[in-house]
Amino acid sequence: MATMSATSIFFSAIAIMLLSTTIAAESSASSGGKPKVTNFMVEACKNASMKNKIYDPNPITQEFCVSTLMLDNRSAEAKDLHSLIHIAIDILKGQVAATNGNVKQMLQDTKNGTATMRALSYCMVDYDRMVSILNICDTMIKEYHGRKGGANDGLLSSELPAYVERVDKPFIECWLGLLAMEAKKLLDENFAVGMSVTLNFCLASTI
Ligand SMILES: *[C@@H]1O[C@H](CO)[C@@H](O)[C@H](O)[C@H]1NC(C)=O
Ligand SMILES: *[C@@H]1O[C@H](CO)[C@@H](O)[C@H](O)[C@H]1NC(C)=O
Ligand SMILES: *[C@@H]1O[C@H](CO)[C@@H](O)[C@H](O)[C@H]1NC(C)=O
Repeated sequence: MATMSATSIFFSAIAIMLLSTTIAAESSASSGGKPKVTNFMVEACKNASMKNKIYDPNPITQEFCVSTLMLDNRSAEAKDLHSLIHIAIDILKGQVAATNGNVKQMLQDTKNGTATMRALSYCMVDYDRMVSILNICDTMIKEYHGRKGGANDGLLSSELPAYVERVDKPFIECWLGLLAMEAKKLLDENFAVGMSVTLNFCLASTI
């Protein structure tokens, strides 16, 4: 799909900046007890890692998937893919919200009329869009009941990846803006969000 290949070209350009460690670090900080890993999580993650695009230079590994899901202790209770994906979307929403907060903070500290200010202003809009799209995905998966009637009835499982993939476009737009302004911390965060977007796509593709 057009948007995925754009992401991919994009990721190739910055393949060196692998930053999955950010997410792992947040994991141990935010949870009190040790998060549990179930066989179901591991198996779902193994399947998700097989859904990587062939050309993706930063493919999702089973380990990255498991450590991301461990950010939410509800993952260990998930008995089916729909609830696991619902949790993965929630995790991504949290990461998007955190990054959005940092963008807003940076914007406040940035001089008016500068290129940085313009890039950040657009990023804020992009992140707001990502949140809106994820909210729709969230509701969609929460209310999932299959399709019993015609085309205007419930969601087909096979449609889910394409809906999740819509997050890609605003994500890339923000990225392009950030690249120009050497905002290292924000770029790293954005990269971590991108990995999480890919993970959601891969997980959704296993349904
Ligand atoms: C993983 O894939 C295998 C083979 O397609 C399937 O039998 C299994 O149910 C899948 N597991 C999960 C947790 O999705
Ligand atoms: C999950 O963690 C939250 C706090 O982050 C806690 O309130 C809740 O009881 C935990 N749930 C389980 C099932 O461990
Ligand atoms: C930038 O301009 C807006 C309105 O034009 C103003 O409200 C804001 O305080 C200005 N910010 C800075 C950092 O100067």
